[in-house]
Amino acid sequence: MSMNLITLLYLVASVCFIQALKGLSHPTSSQRGNLFGMVGMTIAVLTTVALIYKLAAQAGSSAGIGYVLVGLLAGGSAGTIMAKRVEMTKMPELVAFMHSMIGLAAVFIAIAAVVEPQSLGIVATITDPIPAGNRLELFLGAAIGAITFSGSVIAFGKLSGKYKFRLFQGAPVRFNGQHQINLVLGLAILALGLAYTFTGNLSAFALLVALAFVIGVLIIIPIGGADMPVVVSMLNSYSGWAAAGIGFSLNNSMLIVAGSLVGSSGAILSYIMCKAMNRSFFNVILGGFGAEAGATAAAGSQEQRPVKSGSADDAAFMLSNADSVIIVPGYGLAVARAQHALMELTEKLTHRGITVKYAIHPVAGRMPGHMNVLLAEAEVPYDQVFEMDDINAEFGQTDVVLVLGANDVVNPAAKTDPHSPIAGMPILEAYKARTVIVNKRSMASGYAGLDNELFYMDKSMMVFDDAKKVIEDMLKAVE
Ligand code: TAP
Repeated sequence: MSMNLITLLYLVASVCFIQALKGLSHPTSSQRGNLFGMVGMTIAVLTTVALIYKLAAQAGSSAGIGYVLVGLLAGGSAGTIMAKRVEMTKMPELVAFMHSMIGLAAVFIAIAAVVEPQSLGIVATITDPIPAGNRLELFLGAAIGAITFSGSVIAFGKLSGKYKFRLFQGAPVRFNGQHQINLVLGLAILALGLAYTFTGNLSAFALLVALAFVIGVLIIIPIGGADMPVVVSMLNSYSGWAAAGIGFSLNNSMLIVAGSLVGSSGAILSYIMCKAMNRSFFNVILGGFGAEAGATAAAGSQEQRPVKSGSADDAAFMLSNADSVIIVPGYGLAVARAQHALMELTEKLTHRGITVKYAIHPVAGRMPGHMNVLLAEAEVPYDQVFEMDDINAEFGQTDVVLVLGANDVVNPAAKTDPHSPIAGMPILEAYKARTVIVNKRSMASGYAGLDNELFYMDKSMMVFDDAKKVIEDMLKAVE
């Protein structure tokens, strides 16, 4: 295979990745986007295998290709099994694990390139020094890759909540002088990186990689488990930049394009998530500066004030008598896996001539697009699903809002209480509807650990139970 053909195929793969991102920007085109991603990745992997084979043949030995194929088989099989088994609510955990692997791959490639630059075509012979520009790229790729790896491992542990190890606990780990230590470590990595860039000193390179592993742990441990999805998205961005850095050293155009796409889209997504959660973007990037405001969900708060509560039958009666209904799905709906029953209920209501719409908050659930994926799984028609900005104006003219396992995303405190931790966060304005039905299991708080005034309003009726049971009971009552 000629180098021109390889470059052309890498270009095709890069275009596929751009199309994948474009497709994934909307639920209706997301399947097409995924398909482009798969095709792009297949082209990229096969072309890379062909390139390795070519380089090995030029070097007079094809022994290495066996290792590559074993790696592909092992990694591909593990990935397939994990992706098949993972539950939707555990997706951020899987993504964190995958990012850790990307980070580690970047570190390994950088080490290989530093130790044997001639094998990767960076220099002609082993005695030639690596050019300073390449050393800078390898320093950046290795440092960002190491931070991504160790940071993602901590994020994975915190998200899974399965491990007893202190650093893997959801609660933030803080100690005196933490940020100062991070600053010193960051400056030390920079100094060592520049020392390696200008002198080629291998000890400086080794030390900077070791320190980058340490700082990756330190910047993630002060962040609470509930904030991890934003952190995972940020680490996603870091892993992209690490790949792009390595791509420059290897002169691999596809790695540069794909790495930059992942890096920039991850950063944009983190920014959108932070904005929708009313968190400071820079606090998350720098790690833990803003942890105080969030991550309080674990404790939850029980409110003693009385609320009006009713049964699923009462709720079904109110829904059946409405002309217009807006459904607000939240994290609890995903936990209950009640989306299929909900779809059936919606069909029944629509059949009776009731207009039913779904309102999606950008950070409802625990990962970007969580509610869209959940509803798509139950094949809810896309034309019934509305983003927050498109539906907020309609709440005022709606008969019944059905809030299912959602809490923070409909909390009016974001608008009315300037001292609330979520003050300024945009919300779905469910409180403006004529009647509000809220289903959750208790009066426990949501992710932000806050009480919700919506539950105490005269127009609101609580239906306490698991979302799936309540929806199934409503379905029977409507029938
Ligand atoms: P939350 O505010 O977390 O509230 C979910 C509610 O669901 C809880 O109050 C819980 O109350 C209820 N619930 C749990 N299991 C249930 C079940 N089986 N049946 C019925 N109800 C159940 O969720 P939300 O309104 O979707 O808001 C999302 C929150 O997560 C926001 O604060 C957001 O900032 C944060 N967050 C989002 C993301 C992304 S990207 N989506 C990432 C990180 C953080 P009970 O225990 O009383 O049932």
